[in-house]
Amino acid sequence: MSNIIKILPDNLANKIAAGEVVQRPESAVKELLENAIDADATTIELMIKRAGKALIQVCDNGVGMSEADVVLSIQKHATSKISSVEDLEAIRTLGFRGEALSSMAAVSQLEIRTERKHDEIGTLLRIDESGNVIKEKGSFPKGTCVSLKNLFYNVPARRNFLKTDATELKHIIDTFNKISLSHSNIHFKFFNDDELVFDYAAGTLEERIASVFADNMIEALIPVQEKTEFMNISGFIGKPSLLRKSKSEQYLFLNNRFVISKQINHAVFSAYANFLEKGDYPFFILFLEIDPHRIDINVHPSKLEVRFDNEKDIYSFILAVVKKSLGLYDLVPNMNFGETQVSTEKLRQNIFSETEKRDFSDRPVTSGKSSLTRTSFSDKEIDLLFHSLPEINPSPSFVTPHDPFQENEEQKTPVREIKSTHAETEEFPFIIQLHNKYILAQIRSGLMIIDQ
Ligand SMILES: Nc1ncnc2c1ncn2[C@@H]1O[C@H](COP(=O)(O)OP(=O)(O)OP(=O)(O)O)[C@@H](O)[C@H]1O
Ligand SMILES: [Mg+2]
Repeated sequence: MSNIIKILPDNLANKIAAGEVVQRPESAVKELLENAIDADATTIELMIKRAGKALIQVCDNGVGMSEADVVLSIQKHATSKISSVEDLEAIRTLGFRGEALSSMAAVSQLEIRTERKHDEIGTLLRIDESGNVIKEKGSFPKGTCVSLKNLFYNVPARRNFLKTDATELKHIIDTFNKISLSHSNIHFKFFNDDELVFDYAAGTLEERIASVFADNMIEALIPVQEKTEFMNISGFIGKPSLLRKSKSEQYLFLNNRFVISKQINHAVFSAYANFLEKGDYPFFILFLEIDPHRIDINVHPSKLEVRFDNEKDIYSFILAVVKKSLGLYDLVPNMNFGETQVSTEKLRQNIFSETEKRDFSDRPVTSGKSSLTRTSFSDKEIDLLFHSLPEINPSPSFVTPHDPFQENEEQKTPVREIKSTHAETEEFPFIIQLHNKYILAQIRSGLMIIDQ
């Protein structure tokens, strides 16, 4: 019997491989935006037509490519981002597989215009319908513009499986928002069918959150920040009044890359256990920074999945940090009478956002039990705290939160707010539990003592 195995022709192999990288317009948008970020762009413009089915174009003001590089860029396994196995074990860029442009070139009519900062002339590279590469020289804006026309024009099966324009557009917007949240230092613009729909100026994470969600969204969030030797975590978690009915607003960024991790989502979910009812999900935007040697992002061509070498530690760490942040919110702001209330009407909802128009206000929440994680403190810390206290003056500054339904309860557990004029108190630990009986909490206007 004759042999039956043969090597597939390049164009067929490329289409098969492209299927994993470019599943729908949204995945092409992701790859192009990530390339622009890796190129150190400070402004990135996304333009789509017919929900990406007719056109996806990303223009950046990044480093650009030389003529030789742009020709190579559309080849399989062509990358400037890694060159050795050691590099693969410590990925610091969003791309590294060297396959996104070649995959997109296999399933669309691709065109790249690029010019480096110090070059006098740039390059235009085009692939025609017969797969021929056409190259021209020309004067272009500095940076790179990649256009994909008629995505999947040569893969009818894939094209037929695309969803309605509304659904594909929604996926593109989700990805655009995720990526723009991960890089608030970059100015992002989004044109949909020639209309500028999002224009996010470069700024802080807080400003980006306001642009993406709502002007006063930040008031519905609790800041999270913890640094350790092996990982840092920062960002925001939703106050318990911002619980969601789906998991779609859980933003996890690992070394500034949007990733999906069931374990981490579960850790955050568990930290909220006391606040959740069936079907509730917490909102969060969390940034983890971990030594790239300790993670593996090369799990799938989409680069969304990740493996950690110390998953259990990361789980416990995130659980503890989120619990602590929730505990601080649960104890402190509810007693902090200067807090401004956020009315639902004040919220400007992003027209495309899935964010439900719910009450983001800082409503009091009772958790049942305290979520404190830090229970032991050094003698020095306790000394410092007590030496910083002014004399207790029970009458004028003795404040009991007034709640007509809680009168009796409050008499049993008085809450004292002691005015402190000492600026140094800013630097002391936020919450201390003593003898399993007293909780000392630093609040904006001084110190709060709770007799448990
Ligand atoms: N917008 C851009 N500006 C400058 N160079 C770019 C841009 N897009 C792509 N390149 C260059 O083309 C190369 C190939 O891009 P491609 O997206 O195919 O691979 P990659 O980003 O290296 O890896 P991955 O397949 O994981 O995305 C990149 O390594 C980079 O050198
Ligand atoms: Mg890439």
